[in-house]
Amino acid sequence: MLCLEKLIISGGRRLAGEVGVSGAKNAAVAIIPAALLVDGVCRIENLPHIDDVSVIIEILSELGAEITYINPTTIEVNARGMASYTAVHERVRAMRASYYLLGALLGRFKKARVRMPGGCYFGDRPIDQHVKGFKAMGALVDLENGVVDARAERLCGANIYLDMVSVGATINIMIAAACAEGVTTIENAAKEPHVVDLANFLNVMGANIKGAGTDTIKIIGVKKLRGGTYSIIPDQIEAGTLMIAAAATGGDVLIKNVIPKHMESLSAKLIEIGAKVSDLGDAIRVVMDAPPKCANVKTLPYPGFPTDLQPLIVAFLTAAKGTSVVTESVWESRFQYVGELRRMGVDIQVEGRAAVIKGGKGLSGAEVKSTDLRAGAGLIVAALMATGTTRISGLRHIDRGYEEIEKKLCALGADIKRVRGVG
Ligand code: EPU
Repeated sequence: MLCLEKLIISGGRRLAGEVGVSGAKNAAVAIIPAALLVDGVCRIENLPHIDDVSVIIEILSELGAEITYINPTTIEVNARGMASYTAVHERVRAMRASYYLLGALLGRFKKARVRMPGGCYFGDRPIDQHVKGFKAMGALVDLENGVVDARAERLCGANIYLDMVSVGATINIMIAAACAEGVTTIENAAKEPHVVDLANFLNVMGANIKGAGTDTIKIIGVKKLRGGTYSIIPDQIEAGTLMIAAAATGGDVLIKNVIPKHMESLSAKLIEIGAKVSDLGDAIRVVMDAPPKCANVKTLPYPGFPTDLQPLIVAFLTAAKGTSVVTESVWESRFQYVGELRRMGVDIQVEGRAAVIKGGKGLSGAEVKSTDLRAGAGLIVAALMATGTTRISGLRHIDRGYEEIEKKLCALGADIKRVRGVG
């Protein structure tokens, strides 16, 4: 018997008020393993309180790093005494970002044994570009029984041209190269805010990385990284989630602790759909006081529209009269949740990489299941817009990446309860 938690959402309530954004998940899950390279105490602030962060901290601790909680959002990592380079237990599979242990352990010990990562399923999620980078730097990399084994006599700088823009490969290569011999250049690098945040973290710890946030990143290897303090950026995707939820409920919400520059592609799309979006420096206000207009959206690497907001914008566009087309160009398969939205009465057809939404008919509450993290967030947006009650299961996905999502939404006027049931 499984004990299941569900969110019970009574829809139709307009969100209004102020809400703060937590630290960025995808920066935190890269920065924490990167702390293994630091020869000293490294203080990391503004961590989000989410399951993915707890899991990566547990893994580091099992590897022998000393972790001290200074407060719920700040830890100190001291990895000086650590000796293990092997992370092969089941927990490593609980999240995608455990692949950053490969770059961190390889950089630190010149050898790493790490179980293949898990995380949200959007079809095949290869790591060939990570491996290509490690090999170019002189490592031998083998995959056996689901465990990646990487080792190098010497880890040396190299020129690496990524075949596609990959956040994970860009970050992993930066981590491995920070203390390698010589200069590593990553061409066709990802430019996401968390790529820049990881580079800033490493630089604060003594690395010499230039060009993060552009197509070409140059990492000049240093002998060692020293301790220091670093505060993680606000979460772009949580901010986007709150912005879409505000607009989708015809709300008026001030979202604080945001970097508006990171939100430009979403802000532009929300304005096209009919919202008023104001940039207030370190906050964004979203007001929606007109019926939403249909729009076409295409996901792209940063600074394009983020794939991680795709299920949420699809949910919102179901309210717009007419036909909207949302094209997914980052992941080969990220529309598994569409069947759940259909249970709520919406007309969506998926054709290849495009979802065609015939919107404006309204959504009605239903029993639905979150198939992955952002699909879960999309269902929450749909439930907030729907008439009646929606029950969402599969919360383990949502809890991996959102800090107290229902608490934040309830403070804005949503009606959401978390209940435990038996399944
Ligand atoms: N790809 C390859 N080979 C590789 C690496 C990537 O073919 O070696 C392909 C992927 O299959 C995909 C594309 O390249 O089609 C982009 O993948 P990327 O490597 O950028 O994704 P990721 O690093 O595995 C991160 C985020 C995801 C987010 C993507 C895209 C983390 C931990 N995860 O994944 O976030 O969707 O970038 O922006 O940073 C989420 O937070 O819910 C989430 C899934």
